[in-house]
Amino acid sequence: MRSYYIAGNWKMHKTVAESVALAKELKEKLAGCGEKVLVAPAFTALAAVAEALKGSNILLGAQNMGPEEQGAHTGEVSVLMLKDLGVKAVILGHSERRHSYSEGDALINKKVLLALKHGIEPILCVGETLEEREGGTLEAVIGMQVREGLKGVEAAALKSVTIAYEPVWAIGTGKTATPEDADAVHAYIRKVLASLYGETASKSMCIQYGGSVKADNAASLMAKPNIDGALVGGASLKVDTFAPIALFR
Ligand code: 13P
Repeated sequence: MRSYYIAGNWKMHKTVAESVALAKELKEKLAGCGEKVLVAPAFTALAAVAEALKGSNILLGAQNMGPEEQGAHTGEVSVLMLKDLGVKAVILGHSERRHSYSEGDALINKKVLLALKHGIEPILCVGETLEEREGGTLEAVIGMQVREGLKGVEAAALKSVTIAYEPVWAIGTGKTATPEDADAVHAYIRKVLASLYGETASKSMCIQYGGSVKADNAASLMAKPNIDGALVGGASLKVDTFAPIALFR
C-alpha cells in the first residue's frame, strides 16, 4: 500500500513547555498511525521534543539549518548540531526563507547537499507566488527551483529527498490549491525529476503538498495520484487539528 508522509511545521510558535506538551499528545494520539509522521519544532525546543518523542514513531525535524558544518557563523545552527539532537529531516527552501530572508536556490542547494552528506533527509520546498502563477511562469519557476535545489544530488541519494510543493499564495491564507491544480503541479515536478533522474526514480519520489492543509481537505488532496503527503503549518499546532490529517484514512 502507498504510504504517505505527513509533516508538521511549527514555524516560530511555542515555548519549550508548549512544544513538549504537544509532542506528548501527538505521541499518544498517533501511536499505531501507519503514515510517516514528522514534527518540526523551533530550534530551541528540539532537544526537549526529542526526549518527549522517545518510543514513538514520530520523527523529529528542523525548520532550517546553516549552509556550513561549523565556524564563525553567528546565529546559525549547523547540521552537526541537528544530528546530535536526533533530527532526521530538515525543511529547506521554505517560501518564508526564500521571501522574507532572501534565500536563493544556490544557498538552498548547498544546504540540501550538506544535509544529505550527514544523513539528514531534506524536504526541499518549492512554490510559485500568485503573480508568477497569473503571469504564466509557474512551470519555469518550479522547474528552476527543483533543478537548482537538486544540483549535484546523485540518483542514489534521491530516496532520502522529499519535495514539498507549497504555492506561496496558499500558505497561511486559508486558500488551498484545488486537488486538481495541486496534482497538475506535482505531475509537472515529476516530469522535471524524470528529465533529471529517469521515470522510475521520478515515480518513486515523495512529493508533499503544503498550503492551508486541514483535516477537511487532506483526504481529497492525498487521493490524487501525485500527492504523497502533506506539509502542514497552522493545523499542525494542535493535536485536534493535526492528528486527523495524519489519520486521514
Ligand atoms: P499553512 O498550513 O499554515 O498554510 O502553512 C503551510 C506551510 O507553510 C507549511 O510549511
